[in-house]
Amino acid sequence: MIKVNNVTKEFYQGQEKTEVLKGVHLHIEEGEFVAIMGPSGSGKSTLLQLLGGLDTPTTGEIQISHKMLNEMKEKDRTVFRRRQIGFVFQNYQLLPNLTVEENIAFPLHADGKLSKEYEKLIHEFIQTVGLEGLESKQAKLLSGGQQQRVAIARALVTNPTVLLADEPTGNLDRVRAEEILTLLSKFHRDYKQTIVMVTHDIFAAGFADRIILFKDGVVDQEISRKDSDYAKYLANFMA
Ligand SMILES: Nc1ncnc2c1ncn2[C@@H]1O[C@H](COP(=O)(O)OP(=O)(O)OP(=O)(O)O)[C@@H](O)[C@H]1O
Ligand SMILES: [Mg+2]
Repeated sequence: MIKVNNVTKEFYQGQEKTEVLKGVHLHIEEGEFVAIMGPSGSGKSTLLQLLGGLDTPTTGEIQISHKMLNEMKEKDRTVFRRRQIGFVFQNYQLLPNLTVEENIAFPLHADGKLSKEYEKLIHEFIQTVGLEGLESKQAKLLSGGQQQRVAIARALVTNPTVLLADEPTGNLDRVRAEEILTLLSKFHRDYKQTIVMVTHDIFAAGFADRIILFKDGVVDQEISRKDSDYAKYLANFMA
């Protein structure tokens, strides 16, 4: 469903060129939950931005649901991103003065949808992410874990093709992190949500079906839960 074909990405700072992605190949199936790991600066967030159509590759192709992202006009890519891509970030990125409900309704508004018609859907999401009773609370008054629940509901309320999560548990303690990972797993399991999650944390990566290891701008290793040495791999990683 997601195909990344020989993608490179270069950044220029003045005359100086940095080659961040150096030929990335990746296939992600519909309904898969994939974790991307790798050292700081290896290009994980850059790849996620390209997958989400926030930026374009220098060379190579990205295909999502048979749509070639690089062939789209800027305007079409914006609409595609709004409808097909859900984003979750480490620092939640909610609108602090809006309420829980208003934050979740936001992407529907942005897409010109009347929230009156979507009240039931929004309420269902509030229930699913465990925020009942907090509907009218301003986002800035919530704990980190609660804010990330709002961010997840906001990302998924449009029923996107894929959820892209960049270190979604990076700011949370272990208990809160596990709650968020359990919630993501639930969307993956119960709603077949395709998820691509970047993480530094092997504990978080262990919730995914497959772990992709990045190094120096390319995919270095992959291990799938189905592989016989998966448990050993995780144990080694943690050692
Ligand atoms: N817009 C940009 N302009 C210039 N350089 C950039 C830009 N975005 C990223 N880079 C550079 O690309 C490299 C990879 O950055 P990226 O954020 O993708 O790494 P990462 O793997 O997500 O790292 P981390 O684990 O620290 O989040 C870094 O050297 C960074 O400085
Ligand atoms: Mg990053």
